[in-house]
Amino acid sequence: MIFKNLIRKKRDGLALERGEIEFFVRGLADASIPPEQVAALAMAVFFRSMNFAECGALTAAMADSGVRLHWDELRGQGPVIDKHSTGGVGDKVSFLLAPIAAACGCFVPMISGRGLGHTGGTLDKLDAIPGYRSMPDVQAFRRVVASVGCAIIGQTDDLAPADRRLYAIRDVTATVESIPLITASILSKKIAAGLDSLVMDVKTGSGAFMESMDEARALARSIIGVAATTGLNTHAVITDMSQALGWNVGNALEIAESLAFLTGSAQEPRLAEVVFALVSEMLIMGKLASSHAEARKRAEAAVRSGEAAERFARMVAALGGPDDLLTRFPQYLPRAPLIEPIWPAAEGYVSSVDARAVGNLLVALGGGRRVAGEKLDLAVGFSDVAGIGARVGKGRPLAMVHARSPEQVERAAEALRAAMALSDQPCAAPPVVHEILVTT
Ligand code: URA
Repeated sequence: MIFKNLIRKKRDGLALERGEIEFFVRGLADASIPPEQVAALAMAVFFRSMNFAECGALTAAMADSGVRLHWDELRGQGPVIDKHSTGGVGDKVSFLLAPIAAACGCFVPMISGRGLGHTGGTLDKLDAIPGYRSMPDVQAFRRVVASVGCAIIGQTDDLAPADRRLYAIRDVTATVESIPLITASILSKKIAAGLDSLVMDVKTGSGAFMESMDEARALARSIIGVAATTGLNTHAVITDMSQALGWNVGNALEIAESLAFLTGSAQEPRLAEVVFALVSEMLIMGKLASSHAEARKRAEAAVRSGEAAERFARMVAALGGPDDLLTRFPQYLPRAPLIEPIWPAAEGYVSSVDARAVGNLLVALGGGRRVAGEKLDLAVGFSDVAGIGARVGKGRPLAMVHARSPEQVERAAEALRAAMALSDQPCAAPPVVHEILVTT
């Protein structure tokens, strides 16, 4: 096969055959196709798109380009299910969802990434827990999933290596924002991880990659449709990212909020809505509940009983973290030297938030990454961030900033005031769960 002909075919808007896509993925994995030709095909896909069959073939071939995990030892004990999010600001859902789903009978082998740009990364947040090993060997990963029910780790080099090369080339050629390429990238890693089912959290709003509802719906439909062609049972939930999720934004601060949630001391209602909506889909897909009402009841009971908190604690201890994190987390998590309120310029109700700007503010404080590989300040960020509809002013700041210096506090205060619009009139908070899409 001559690869240039495949590029031309896609450039002219024609669909590629399965064999042609497999040839492409082999060339990606063994680097026999040079980056300029990979980039040319990625750009052709960006403009001409792919149908579900093509995208399914790309997904399956990339899933097969490395090691594929199997969970045969768990057969009959419970469904193997994970969640993937398109990323957002203050998104600590994984730390709640994985142990809650495990406490309800799921096995959750969660393979997560690091943050880049305005969205945070699950592995960076876990770095705030001293000793936590997010890159264990595969045997340890399997052991923790089997014994605890969940483990959150980083992507190993041998999982979907073709996707890693394609993503690196897309990243520098302005071809990340292609729905079929995003779909194949996400699903190939999930299929390689050996899941029975997947729930996708597709975020929409000012802090999401898919800012408009139309874009979010298009990605959700693509993921559902392509997953169906590969046999991966998938539900997608479109959730709101028009403001930070939960109260805290920042690596250690988000772990602290997650532990407060799991131990029942403080549960931000919008965060709870997203978590319970996603866990409910997992329990339904895994046949552990027959209705949303039943699934929700089970998930809430897992938190109330302390079982979910216990699972999180066991996961942390099994992966090298402290075994008394639940009771002593304030002592373990890094803390910034300055914690100051940010007051609004006038009293009022928060009417809208530029959530992307809030994420970028965390980057400016040193808590998020500008370029891959950058070391982060895990302690900095914001806590008690006021949500849309909150009355701010006397006695209620916009947020508390956690920073290293008075200059940082000053800059963050000014920028946060600019990112949060106020109104004299009370405003309603936007809905948290917009739509649920399931494979038909
Ligand atoms: N996340 C992925 O894993 N891949 C993409 O292409 C985009 C987001």
